[in-house]
Amino acid sequence: MNSRREFIKGSVVAASVLALSRTLPAEGSENSLSGIVYTKDNPGKWGKKVGSHLPSITVENGKVTLETKHPMSEKHYIIRHTLVLEDGTVAGAKTFYPDIKKAVSSYELPAGYKGKIYGTSFCNLHDFWLNEATV
Ligand SMILES: [Fe+2]
Repeated sequence: MNSRREFIKGSVVAASVLALSRTLPAEGSENSLSGIVYTKDNPGKWGKKVGSHLPSITVENGKVTLETKHPMSEKHYIIRHTLVLEDGTVAGAKTFYPDIKKAVSSYELPAGYKGKIYGTSFCNLHDFWLNEATV
């Protein structure tokens, strides 16, 4: 029950952030959402953290793998990945605990899916990161 509640909560957060990010203005513009969603092009105050926080997206045979190249320790780790489809559907999410070595998660796309996909990664110290790819 608890994990289902976490999944739903995380899914709602991911979908909400995705809706916000669709209107994410270019870096330096007046209405920037820096401080909420960080991307490769808009890393805000975490400009030196892109390589270790932006989730990579790999797609192969309908399977999507997200990986965040971030150290995992009890004090500093990646909490969660989420994969969201272009229409806001949450295709999957994975919660991590600091006792693992790598923040990697995999998801199956719906059969024949074509469109954008969004991968999110949430660090306990360096906030919420978003990357996208097109399938
Ligand atoms: Fe971090």
